[in-house]
Amino acid sequence: MRIEPISAQHRQALVDFVGEISQQDRYFVDRTLISQVAVASWTQAVPERRLVAVEDDGSISGLLTVARGTGWSAHTADLRLVVNSACRGRGVGKALAQAGVELAESLGIEKLSVETMSANNGAQATFVPLGFAVEARLPGGIRDDNGQLQDIVILSRWLTGGDGA
Ligand SMILES: CC(C)(COP(=O)(O)OP(=O)(O)OC[C@H]1O[C@@H](n2cnc3c(N)ncnc32)[C@H](O)[C@@H]1OP(=O)(O)O)[C@@H](O)C(=O)NCCC(=O)NCCS
Repeated sequence: MRIEPISAQHRQALVDFVGEISQQDRYFVDRTLISQVAVASWTQAVPERRLVAVEDDGSISGLLTVARGTGWSAHTADLRLVVNSACRGRGVGKALAQAGVELAESLGIEKLSVETMSANNGAQATFVPLGFAVEARLPGGIRDDNGQLQDIVILSRWLTGGDGA
């Protein structure tokens, strides 16, 4: 498995990857990217930066997006991460998350955040070892597929050069 910036050569593998993402996980997916795939314009220059995990057979097992804030929040970015459910538990998420932190650092971003459900142990187990900590909790921010209210948590960390570093 290798991590690389998304490019035109990933197009079909990305369409396949997106097609396999469950309804439940679509909350985490980069919706802009899906629509860009649909209109075949996703290779054009866009503000978001994206990395993919590519398996030896060329299939994509994970996608990470660094979405920079705008205006007064331009020093911040949100990370979004999703790994194919068949490929979880073997380090893809951790490798993409680490690469995302490094990419954000290289872009001069000072603060990173990840939004997830508080019950999402996998997300927290992936990001907390990378220095992220729960910064905010939004009670009842999600109604899950069973109709139950779930809290959203925002995990954040400062990067080198940021005020909190
Ligand atoms: C969260 C997610 C990205 C993890 O991807 P992954 O490839 O399975 O993660 P890794 O194999 O790299 O595991 C990273 C760590 O999390 C732990 N972990 C993974 N899934 C877990 C789970 N469901 N419960 C508890 N721990 C879990 C692993 O044990 C590992 O910890 P370790 O290094 O101490 O062993 C993946 O489950 C996913 O795509 N979930 C849906 C989308 C999502 O929640 N995105 C995150 C918020 S944007």
